[in-house]
Amino acid sequence: MQKHQTNFPDWSALIPVLPAGGPRRDALQAELRRLIETRVLLPGQKLPPSRELAQRLKLARGAVVAAYEQLAADGFVEARLGAGTYVAAQVPENADQKTAPQAPAKTGPTPPVPGKLGSGTVDDKTLRDLRGLFREALMRPPPGFLHYGDPFGELPLRREIADYLRATRGIRAEVDQVMITSGTQSALSLIARALLPTESRIWVEDPCYPQARNLFRSLGLTIIPVPVDQDGLDPAAGIAAAPEAEAVYITPSHQYPLGTTLSMPRRLALLDWAHRAGAWIIEDDYDSEFRFTGPPLAALHGIDRAGRVIYLGTFSKALAPGLRLGYAVLPAAVVETVYRLRDLTDRYPNPLIETVLARFLAEGHYAAHLRRARKRCKMARDALVEGLAAAPLDVSIPEQGLHLIASARNDASDTELQRLAQEGGLASRRLSELFIQAPARQGLVIGYSGFVADEVSTAALGAARAIAAWRKRQ
Ligand SMILES: Cc1ncc(COP(=O)(O)O)c(C=O)c1O
Repeated sequence: MQKHQTNFPDWSALIPVLPAGGPRRDALQAELRRLIETRVLLPGQKLPPSRELAQRLKLARGAVVAAYEQLAADGFVEARLGAGTYVAAQVPENADQKTAPQAPAKTGPTPPVPGKLGSGTVDDKTLRDLRGLFREALMRPPPGFLHYGDPFGELPLRREIADYLRATRGIRAEVDQVMITSGTQSALSLIARALLPTESRIWVEDPCYPQARNLFRSLGLTIIPVPVDQDGLDPAAGIAAAPEAEAVYITPSHQYPLGTTLSMPRRLALLDWAHRAGAWIIEDDYDSEFRFTGPPLAALHGIDRAGRVIYLGTFSKALAPGLRLGYAVLPAAVVETVYRLRDLTDRYPNPLIETVLARFLAEGHYAAHLRRARKRCKMARDALVEGLAAAPLDVSIPEQGLHLIASARNDASDTELQRLAQEGGLASRRLSELFIQAPARQGLVIGYSGFVADEVSTAALGAARAIAAWRKRQ
């Protein structure tokens, strides 16, 4: 049988730190099962000998043996006499591989359907404005178009972003500290590679944004899952698990996916820890443009006095993911290092798009676009909530952002709920797949951008009917 190699440097990087107390065997078993279900570990792949894994993860060997035995009993692995333990050729049917966060679909993204996460928010007026600005940018291309440009991007856009962040997010940044990126993903990759050597430990919210976590893993960082509650990530739990971690990746203003806000005491505790530990706080502020009630919350960066916060923003939600445009505000101390790596990685961002965006911001189109988009998204959110009302789900109504959580009642499986919702025409992501080692909650993460309220309403009603009918049959 063909044997597959993982892309990961070692097993302790692949498997996060397991809880200090409690059933570590269960935690290891759940983690291995998840790696198999999400096809990080492929059929036919050999697992490490129990002694070796126990050593790497600092576990009793008996715990590893017991976890392997349970996985074998459940059909996820098979023990071959004298040869070791292998991922089963066929894993059990209910293992949901389609939504594998670790294995991007080779066939490309799924077609846009209401509910799909990550859809942009442009309307016809915004498209018209952008079209005009693109035409003009091509008529008078910026210097970076014909000649090599600045690794951090065109100055006019960086200036606009610095002004925008000062006015809306309480961030004071010099233009030199603002780097234009190809979205958050490329910013995360650059920052992790520039500042976090392999095997650095990084606190990650549990549950979390899988694109970030999978990227960190792929770079050989050790993931330290830190639980999230109604006040956001709990720094005390992070300190208990890994006080000397090198970084934390966090979504403080709107936790992804649960939607909580990091409370002020926790913001201060996190900053204090980062200052003492010399750790970086990577603040992913991905959707703060969409706050539906009350004033926007200030960014964590705005209250950082020690220069530990790296702030990330993106136009993926505020406009469209296909622009591939985001930005990072870097502490002065790391500007030089990141600048050099950027030059070596992809030289510099796209000057034409930057020129268009700079004018889009400078001429007030962006502020007007956001006002319209906020209104439309709020209507779509309300249509989604109303449509789902007939389903046996507990739906949270978010005050910010472009997705909501519909929690399962009576522990219904979110694999089943997702399938039924899809049948009714509503896309979603399973909430349980976003947990690392905290007890997984069953529910659906559903987006409401990219479609008008009527379309969202029809899809939500279809999903609600399918789920309610299924419930009745139970
Ligand atoms: C938590 C989070 N951060 C960032 C992004 C944006 O990523 P990018 O800018 O790479 O498109 C998303 C998009 O879905 C997200 O959910």
